[in-house]
Order: sequence, then structure tokens, then C-alpha cells
Amino acid sequence: MKPGDSLLIEEMFDLISSRYDLLNDIFSFGMHRLWKSSLISFLDPKAGEKWIDLCCGTGDMSILLAEKMNSSDNIIGLDSALNVLSIAKERSLKKYSSIKWIKGDALETNLPSNQFDGLLMAYGLRNLSNYSLGFKEAHRLLKPGGKAGFLDFRSFERLSLQYLFQKCYLSFYVVPIASLFELGQEYSYIKKSLKNFPSGLQQKKLALDAGFKKAEFKLLAQGQMGMLIVEA
Ligand SMILES: C[S@@+](CC[C@H](N)C(=O)[O-])C[C@H]1O[C@@H](n2cnc3c(N)ncnc32)[C@H](O)[C@@H]1O
Repeated sequence: MKPGDSLLIEEMFDLISSRYDLLNDIFSFGMHRLWKSSLISFLDPKAGEKWIDLCCGTGDMSILLAEKMNSSDNIIGLDSALNVLSIAKERSLKKYSSIKWIKGDALETNLPSNQFDGLLMAYGLRNLSNYSLGFKEAHRLLKPGGKAGFLDFRSFERLSLQYLFQKCYLSFYVVPIASLFELGQEYSYIKKSLKNFPSGLQQKKLALDAGFKKAEFKLLAQGQMGMLIVEA
């Protein structure tokens, strides 16, 4: 599958939705929970603020936001795939039923401008067909001074040690295990989506060009993951 093809990406996430959380735990040895919590800690959302979780998937980040803010009243989770959204809704019903789950495109949300105190995107940026437009839309949604965080895999220089480690991890761990669930082809997409994914430095530049005032890039998981933290 070609990265950036939004319709195929939507179909792919709908297809893997029922195994998505289990596979995330297997592939990261549960560590994705820690990385996601780190993003929340850096962004430090406060009670009463309004936040949006773009490319929310099955809702991990929206639920973490609600836990941190002790309320789910002002949280929106947005994703283009309906099946993942229905899992997110189901998960949030008991404790955080006021999270609003919206089907939409992170590149063109059609939501009013300047309304959010904060925005985040975990493992979503890589899937967008246009990173620059993604940052511009994020900037448009935020109030001046609002914060945003983008967590994702990192892309590396070809043949660097980290690149080789990532390649082995994806080719010899992720894809074979996904194949046991008949999802090998779908998970081989991660490697393709990293091919032209911007480095931390490039992400900072794209964000600043999109209008953000400040941008910093932080490393997680021995540098395998990166977090772009920006201010509107
Ligand atoms: C790898 S999952 C990450 C889900 C969740 N944020 C997490 O960290 O567990 C990427 C999600 O992005 C969604 N997605 C991809 N492109 C999108 C777009 N243009 N607009 C909205 N959602 C998109 C997919 O449907 C999928 O649920």
C-alpha cells in the first residue's frame, strides 16, 4: 500500500481495528503506554482546557487526557476510520462518556479555528499525505499560545545503526508476528510510511513554517521514537 493514500489508509485501519490494541502491546512490549504518557506529561493539559486528539485511533490519548484533566467534557477524538472510532467510543463509555468522537480528516477537520488549548497526535503524522498541511491545520485549530505534541517513530539516515535496528525490528519482529494474525501486509506499511517521513529537525522546520512560534524535538525509547512539541 502507498503511504499518503487516505482512502486505503482508512480501509487498512478499519481492517486492523479489532487487533490494533493487542498488537500495539505485543510490538512495543507495552511501552507505547509509557511513551504516550510521556507526551501527556510534556504537554501538561490542565483541568477545564479544551483539547483535540487527531488521528485518535482506538482512543488511548483521549482517555489519557481525560484521566490527566479529571474530566472528559472538553475532549474531542478525531479519526478517519469508523471502526477504530467505535472501539474508542466503547472504551470510553464507562468513565469518560463525554469525549466526542468525530469521523474526519486531520488535514481538513472543518472545525472552527482558534478554539483548542491543546492538540495532540500519536502515530498519526506519518500517515498524512501532506505533513505541511497537517501542521497548518493543527495551528489553525489552536488558540494563540496553545500547545501541540506529535509522537511517532523516527526516520533515520539510511545505513545508520538506528536505521538498521529499526529495519530489523520491523522486518523480523513486527511483520512476522502481524502475519500470524493475517495482517503482515498491513503492518509492512509502517516501514513504507517511514521512508519519506521528516526527521526531527525537518519536522521542527515544517511546524515553524506552518506558523508555530516555538518547536522542540525530544527523543524517547533510546531515540527510536520522537516527540515534536510546539506552541502556537
Ligand atoms: C497508528 S494509528 C494511531 C492511533 C492512536 N493515536 C494511537 O496512538 O494508538 C493512526 C491512526 O490515524 C488515522 N488516520 C490516518 N490518516 C488520517 C487522517 N488523514 N485523518 C484522520 N485520521 C487519520 C488512522 O485511521 C489510525 O486510526
